[in-house]
Amino acid sequence: MRGTVVAVTSASISGQHDDRSRDVIGDLASALTAAIGADHVLTPADVRAGFETDWTGRYRGSSDIVARPASTAEVSAVLTACMEHDAQVIAQAGNTGLVGGSVPRAERDRDERPVVIVSMRRLDHLGAVDTAAMQVTAGAGTTLARWRDHARSAGLDTPVDFAARDVATVGGAIATNAGGSRVLRFGTMRQQVVGIEAVTADGSVIGSLSGLPKETAGLHWPSLLTGSEGTLAVITTARLRLVPLFRATITALVALDSLAAAVDLVGVLRRTVPSLDAAEIIFPAAMELVSAHLDRAVPVTAPDGGVYLMLDCADHIDPAESLAAALGPAAGVVDAAVTTDRAQRDRLIDFRDRITEAVGAASTAVGMPTFKLDVAVPLDALDDLLDVAQGAADSDGCRLVPFGHLAEGNLHLNHIGARSPDQIAEAVLRAVASLGGTISAEHGIGVAKAPWLHLIRAPADLAAQATIRRALDPTRSLNPGVLDATARPDRQPVRD
Ligand code: MLT
Ligand code: ZN
Repeated sequence: MRGTVVAVTSASISGQHDDRSRDVIGDLASALTAAIGADHVLTPADVRAGFETDWTGRYRGSSDIVARPASTAEVSAVLTACMEHDAQVIAQAGNTGLVGGSVPRAERDRDERPVVIVSMRRLDHLGAVDTAAMQVTAGAGTTLARWRDHARSAGLDTPVDFAARDVATVGGAIATNAGGSRVLRFGTMRQQVVGIEAVTADGSVIGSLSGLPKETAGLHWPSLLTGSEGTLAVITTARLRLVPLFRATITALVALDSLAAAVDLVGVLRRTVPSLDAAEIIFPAAMELVSAHLDRAVPVTAPDGGVYLMLDCADHIDPAESLAAALGPAAGVVDAAVTTDRAQRDRLIDFRDRITEAVGAASTAVGMPTFKLDVAVPLDALDDLLDVAQGAADSDGCRLVPFGHLAEGNLHLNHIGARSPDQIAEAVLRAVASLGGTISAEHGIGVAKAPWLHLIRAPADLAAQATIRRALDPTRSLNPGVLDATARPDRQPVRD
């Protein structure tokens, strides 16, 4: 139903509202219709439903209206109308977020403020690629795949890539400071945003898209807004860095006898193979699951206690020799499947890129949404973290499926069939904090981890962040509950 064109009528505004709030929502719908047109103000419950549940099915809330602006000016008009009607605003684009930050809260305000989902998908314009500056301007609703294809058509590439590329958008990736597989070479989204345009809660447009590589003129909006998860402003457009397009590529799936050997190998590769583009770790539980899901045998086998590494190298000249020189003498390498052939590379990379899909399918099969914890710890603490995560999974009786981005010590701890997600989170996130790590490496805090934010941020730090938030959003309209260390836990699994 998503995207269906529906005219606004008072009869189509439903829900459990009293007459007064129904009037407010009706007035707001009319104001939004005047601003962006009736075709883009969606009110029927069955149409809104497609925007109200997250990708995993774990987070769900209710909204009153979905507004679909197509430009920064329209976003400004929408937010102005929302402020005039005291509405809360949830910005959403691809809705691939994993911490409940892009859907409404499960519990509504006691004072029942209207809730508007602002869908950013129509802001999907792409400017001409500036090949000299190696930059491009992209609307927040542009998918990562379109951003990448556009860059490649001009002989350049995008520095950020991850498996949800066909649906995830530039705006969401900035809002969560997304990472993915190329972080070890190019950094996270934060390093790619050289200009930004955004709309604050009162409809003001802030930022600049000039993309000047050097400018010191006060606060840097890209730095402040990247990772702010829709709480400070709604990002509408970004000026983004591009990187060279390397046509000589090689992929290796390596089986190693231990996690320690994998960590050592990544160190060697980072020091000696400058073309290293990705070093993704896949633990046997994840490899077994994805192999069954793909119905495809894994070409190499890790022994008991071993792990798999998916390596990608990309350069202007063939990186095969330098990769072989590093892999050959490496301790703990049991076996490796290496290929430069495009189709074979895609088949190898499937074992990494389709783990999330396999985890989702396994969760559906047991009738419970996946419980995901995205965390990072120093590399020498990974073993300890895994012990704690396995212990928590064993106590719960669920299945732990770990994989991640090894160079950053970033593990995605997926729990299939978790009965007590809060208890798992409590054990794992406390351990992460005491190991010197972070409770969110790249998925964000959302509502999922807000109750644990205090583990990694001091009270004075949280107070200063709250002050900045209040200054930009005095009526607490933007994504309430998200990134809010004082928020109530809001993680009820969806039970169908
Ligand atoms: C990934 O690395 O594939 C993403 O972060 C998604 C996930 O954790 O499932
Ligand atoms: Zn990831």
